[in-house]
Amino acid sequence: MKSIQRSNNIGSNVISETLKNGLHTTVVGSRFIYHKRLSSTMDEAIREINKGTVEGTVLLTDEQTAGRGRFERQWFSGPGDLMFSVVFYPSYKELPYLSVLAALAVVRTIEKETDLLPRIKWPNDILVNGKKICGLLVENLTKGNSSGHSIVGIGLNVGMNVKSYPEISDIATSINTESKMDTSLVSLFQGIIQQLDNLYLAVKDGYSPIGEWKQYLYALGQTVEIRINDEIVSGLAEGVDELGHLLVRTSDDKIVTIMAGEATFNPMA
Ligand code: BTN
Repeated sequence: MKSIQRSNNIGSNVISETLKNGLHTTVVGSRFIYHKRLSSTMDEAIREINKGTVEGTVLLTDEQTAGRGRFERQWFSGPGDLMFSVVFYPSYKELPYLSVLAALAVVRTIEKETDLLPRIKWPNDILVNGKKICGLLVENLTKGNSSGHSIVGIGLNVGMNVKSYPEISDIATSINTESKMDTSLVSLFQGIIQQLDNLYLAVKDGYSPIGEWKQYLYALGQTVEIRINDEIVSGLAEGVDELGHLLVRTSDDKIVTIMAGEATFNPMA
């Protein structure tokens, strides 16, 4: 039984329409919570986890006053974009794949709902025509021997006119800007929720998502610079391993495995 907290606003309508269309999920979307405005859906997810919310709870908002991205950067978006977080209580089997699953859910949905060709910039930015259209943030809390909780935050620029955001206008874009059409928020939201559930269940059943994810990866085989805290590793991005870690061939011909960091492909010499 799916529960919903109602109010008369964009995200609330997106949730009602999604449920009306029929959502066929097992875990993701077991509960939907909407707030018109939040500091961040990540913060609200933690509050709900502390109250014992079920796995698959989705927190959606129309506006974040302190939306955050990776490396504690500010995340810009507004009404007409999608900003939501999903709560997981994964086992150690699913845990390493959550960001891969979220990226795949988004690219599968963009391909289904638009004519755009999304690419994944390692580790998990979604680009269209070389510009960022979606950011993913995964925050994990492990507890003793169990994997605890994970929150997957998804920020998809849909209606955003990036020109209104000078901080990001050169590097970001939105679905409507690229497709020159108004794409339905409901179709995009419903698609991502459905795909994320399909993929999560498939991984529980033993599916490895890396092969499909790799096909969308941008700039493999090209030079890369990765910032990991204060260290920079540079070389050739040769491929990824079975967990999605980047394999970089450095100038001394060694392969370095990079688990996380900020990648710049084809850095200027
Ligand atoms: C990144 O690219 O750095 C990740 C951006 C993640 C943004 C989303 S929007 C919904 C959720 N709430 C947040 O505060 N951040 C994530």
